[in-house]
Amino acid sequence: MKREQLTVTETIDEIQDALRCLERSGWDGFDCSSRCLETIQNWGRPPGAVRESLNDIQRDLGECRRCGLSAGRTKIVFGAGNPEAELVFIGEGPGYEEDRQGEPFVGPAGQLLTKIIAAIGLDRDQVYICNIIKCRPPGNRNPETDEIATCSPFLKRQLKAIRPKFVCTLGKFAAQTLLDTTDPISRLRGHRHFYDGLRVIPTYHPAYLLRNPGKKRQVWEDMKLLMKEMGLPLPAKDASINKT
Ligand code: URA
Repeated sequence: MKREQLTVTETIDEIQDALRCLERSGWDGFDCSSRCLETIQNWGRPPGAVRESLNDIQRDLGECRRCGLSAGRTKIVFGAGNPEAELVFIGEGPGYEEDRQGEPFVGPAGQLLTKIIAAIGLDRDQVYICNIIKCRPPGNRNPETDEIATCSPFLKRQLKAIRPKFVCTLGKFAAQTLLDTTDPISRLRGHRHFYDGLRVIPTYHPAYLLRNPGKKRQVWEDMKLLMKEMGLPLPAKDASINKT
C-alpha cells in the first residue's frame, strides 16, 4: 500500500511495531538533543556542504581558556539575536554589564545601539549582535593583538554559520579586524567594503558616540548607507539619530 493511503490507525500500528522492534533490540529512549537533530539534518550531505551551527561553535568555545582574558571574566559573551539574520552588528568586546549578564551590548552603549537599530527600522531580535573578543578586558582596556588573533576565528565562524548579507562594524577594532587593515575608522566609515562576500558598513562605536555626541550625524549617514544597501525604506524626514 502506498504510504499516503495509510489510515491514521494503520500509521499508529506501524509506529507501535517499529517501537516494539526497537524495544526488543534494547533501546529505551531517543536522543532528541539539538546536537543529535543537527547531526541527523546533515546526514547524506557531502562533507563540504555541512554547515556548522552557532551551537557547534559555542560548544567548541566551551569554557574558553585560550587567552589571558579568561582569568578576569565573569561570563563569556558569545553573541545574541537571530541566528539567520540578514544583518550582523560587530562590536569590540564585552564591558562591565555584558560581562555580568553574558549578553552583548546591554550596558549604556548597548542602549544607544538599540536606538540606532530602531532608527533603521529594525529591532534587536531581527539582527545578530556579537563582538570581536568574547571576554571583557580588565578595566575595559583595548583588546591586544594576540587576544584578537585568538578570539576572532570564532567570530569568523559565526559569520559563516549565520551567513548574513550585511555586517555593520562598530568602532576601530571591529572594522580593522574584519577588513584586515590598519586604516583609521575615520577613513573606513562612510563607505561600503566587502568581507568574504558580505557587504560591510563600518561606523563609529556607540561608546565613542556617548563621549562624542557630535559624531551622531556621521553615524546617521552610515546608517542611511546601510539602509540603502539593504533596500530598507529611508525615513521621509531626515530623522538624525541626534534625537536618540
Ligand atoms: N562594547 C562592545 O564593544 N561590545 C559590547 O558588547 C558592549 C560594549
